[in-house]
Amino acid sequence: MIWELVQYAITPVHLPYVRPMGFLKEAIATAARSKRCRTAWAPHYAKCRDLLLAEAHACANKRKALIFGAGTLNDIPLAELATLFDEVWLVDLVFLPAARKRARGFANVRLIEHDVTESMSAFYQGELLVAMPQRWLNDKDIDWVVSLNLLTQLPTMPLAWLRKRRTQDENVLENIAKGLLQAHIAYLQAFQAPVVLIADREAQRFDREGTCLETFELWWGLPVLAAEESWHWSLAPLGEMARDFAQTHRVGVNRWQRSISS
Ligand SMILES: C[S@@+](CC[C@H](N)C(=O)[O-])C[C@H]1O[C@@H](n2cnc3c(N)ncnc32)[C@H](O)[C@@H]1O
Repeated sequence: MIWELVQYAITPVHLPYVRPMGFLKEAIATAARSKRCRTAWAPHYAKCRDLLLAEAHACANKRKALIFGAGTLNDIPLAELATLFDEVWLVDLVFLPAARKRARGFANVRLIEHDVTESMSAFYQGELLVAMPQRWLNDKDIDWVVSLNLLTQLPTMPLAWLRKRRTQDENVLENIAKGLLQAHIAYLQAFQAPVVLIADREAQRFDREGTCLETFELWWGLPVLAAEESWHWSLAPLGEMARDFAQTHRVGVNRWQRSISS
């Protein structure tokens, strides 16, 4: 708890809405949860790292790698990517001290605080507009793009913010959530470089006996892209989210433009 407060105080934050909209608090909570759930999350992290490494090796060119939703960096094979690529650009709204320390170990790894939706500033001002992100689409040196366990998180904090400050109209909020997911997928598809999307598809809750209590979707009613490969992430083992159920997410992979070469 003390370390969580210290992190809140000492983490450098450059984007003006990151603290007030709760992103820093959420990043600290996620990092703490990842420590508590270390054993349960290990297979998911290992799967992400192995998959990214195989995908990175398959890239025809290896100048810049661009990774969205880098967060704790736990799901990134950072040392290997820093060796393979000329530059590795890690993008997130906020980087905690542990991620900053780890990235400092690599001269060609850059941490970039940036909102991948390009909508957060408007939401912060109370505007209900979803933008079509543009940044880096014209950067010809980018040879690989990854969206990493980020997609279904995009609406969470802005919706909580807008619900408190601007509107409680659930139809409006649902359309914003859908718009954020759709715009992110369209943004990924607009890159010329090969793209890997790793994102959860649905969640399931299990009782103490392992019986499935419910399955629910995480894409706000949008058609879920059929995953080319998937696995289960034990996101909240018994006792983490609730005493009487555990929650597991199915995480899937999609790839675009894999065949493009120099
Ligand atoms: C579920 S976490 C996954 C992070 C990381 N891949 C990991 O496993 O530690 C989602 C991440 O997305 C980031 N994020 C949420 N909304 C974002 C946005 N609009 N732009 C950039 N990053 C965002 C959060 O700060 C968080 O680090």
